[in-house]
Amino acid sequence: MCGIVGYIGNKQACEIILKGLKRLEYRGYDSAGVALLNGDLRVYKKQGKVLDLEESLNGKNIEGTIGMGHTRWATHGEPNDKNAHPHQSPTGDLSVIHNGIIENYATLKEGLLQRGHTFKSDTDTEVLIHLIEDIMKNANLSLQDAVRAALSQVVGAYAIVILSKNHPEHLIAARKGSPLVVGIGTDRGEFFLASDATPIVEYTNQVIYIKDGEIAIIENKELTIKTIDNVIQTPYIQELEMNLEQLEKGGYPHFMLKEIYEQPKSIFDSFRGRIDGRTGNINMRSVRDYQEKLSKVNRLILIGCGTSWHAGLVAEYLFEDLARVPVEVEYASEFRYRNPVIYPDDLIISISQSGETADTLAAMELAKQKGATVFGVCNVVGSSIPRLSHGGAYTHAGPEIGVASTKAFTAQVTVLTLYALAMAKQRETLSSSRIKQLVKEMEAIPKKVEQALKLNDKIYKIAELYKDAKNFLYLGRGYNFPVALEGALKLKEISYIHAEGYPAAEMKHGPIALIDEEMPVVVIATNNEHYEKLVSNIQEVKARKGKVIAIVTEGNTGLNELADHVIEVPETENCLSPIINTIPLQLLSYHIAVMRECNVDQPRNLAKSVTVE
Ligand code: F6R
Repeated sequence: MCGIVGYIGNKQACEIILKGLKRLEYRGYDSAGVALLNGDLRVYKKQGKVLDLEESLNGKNIEGTIGMGHTRWATHGEPNDKNAHPHQSPTGDLSVIHNGIIENYATLKEGLLQRGHTFKSDTDTEVLIHLIEDIMKNANLSLQDAVRAALSQVVGAYAIVILSKNHPEHLIAARKGSPLVVGIGTDRGEFFLASDATPIVEYTNQVIYIKDGEIAIIENKELTIKTIDNVIQTPYIQELEMNLEQLEKGGYPHFMLKEIYEQPKSIFDSFRGRIDGRTGNINMRSVRDYQEKLSKVNRLILIGCGTSWHAGLVAEYLFEDLARVPVEVEYASEFRYRNPVIYPDDLIISISQSGETADTLAAMELAKQKGATVFGVCNVVGSSIPRLSHGGAYTHAGPEIGVASTKAFTAQVTVLTLYALAMAKQRETLSSSRIKQLVKEMEAIPKKVEQALKLNDKIYKIAELYKDAKNFLYLGRGYNFPVALEGALKLKEISYIHAEGYPAAEMKHGPIALIDEEMPVVVIATNNEHYEKLVSNIQEVKARKGKVIAIVTEGNTGLNELADHVIEVPETENCLSPIINTIPLQLLSYHIAVMRECNVDQPRNLAKSVTVE
């Protein structure tokens, strides 16, 4: 989704802004622009990549120590130069960048058209900057007051930054529903603004996360935070946990591959300090804090989108199997509009890598309004979801830059496993010795993932054979049905090959019609109670000449004759197998996408952080 960078200080702003926009590229975008203030207010913008914008700046006046930049992910109006941000007011004195959607822009625009305004773009954002100037002029208000007055008329979500030619030491930003962070520079009066901390981290680790309904005003080297109703707020300064190295590719050709290979460490980091295999102890702060509440929980509702929803599906098996709690798993986007039945003794667990997904946030708000306790399982520290949660746990996977989620998924599943085990302990649904055994095995998972990563060369060769396939089918059962869904999602989002994930037994109720000699079918057939049934499913595929890529447990040679390819993964407990079985599927998608010359880290049309609904 759209990315925002702002700078005010003593350094040249343009370089800092362009570098910041490159750091935000992972969010997904289709055009970019900058505005620089140095006596006059200059705006440069372009469809395409930040690099295209940078080239277009050659020979232009880019002087200025105050400025802002934007990467646009089109919502209102197609991706082109005129719809790119920043947008300007009719006089050209004001300029704005915006992330979000102004839902009532048509009504606001109608009023402005009647007052003689004409518009250069098709965007909702241009309407906002016209409105602010209109209010300044007609109501004779200061810039700050006009911004507040305009925002109080806006329905929708926004993070905005505004520059004014007539306010040369001034930068105004505001947020409602879309993320915005202020970085406090080392020089007095130096401030950074950004959609997330990635553009800020190389300059400072002191940040303030702007809250919904707040406006940040940087004026005469001072930062003031107010509510939209003009009440001054005391900012909470947080120290960033991430470092610059985590944001670089570290020798890998793509962030996605780097993140796939980071998994032994990210999985370890997600359980580090939380479990002890010698004692079987599980130490989750939120479980301690909400002990009484959790003992009375009658139902869990897990909400998320995309890959995070898949982690929720794995957790459904975990919580029901280990802790015997009934579970529902919901797409946040459906849940929020369904008028769901929620009881006070429900526990909602909201799962998100970014912590900013608009639908997930709205679903959590709804659940809170209905009186439920809401936990967050989130990767980005300080993001909106953990701040909205009553409790929860960070996944500690480190920054995930590749748009396709990999290490965040395995970390989510790890943390959700810890919750399931903690609840199993509390509810005495598993014996202490069984819990200890599972905790010990969890500690062994990073090494097993390391082993699974050694399958890379074999998977590369398989990718070469199927890179031109038009369709792929992924089959799994039980704990590994969501892994099949996740494998299919990974392939389609980065390689643009159509792929479906199915519970293996459902194949004969429809998808079997698709199978012919052109159809690769990935079957997750590791050792568990469904193995024999999965072998029958493989027989059914082979009888129709489909090509079978089977993921089996190390040492199992039973499918060597039947399947076209057999990938042996390390053995583990069935309930922990999704973490390991996901690895070869991630590698397969990655290699196929690279072979098809796709932009693996920034697939077309996709955004890393989906901050609009
Ligand atoms: C898939 C992917 C998306 C996200 C989804 C939710 O690889 O990355 O499907 O999982 O947009 O995002 P978060 O987890 O940030 O809420």
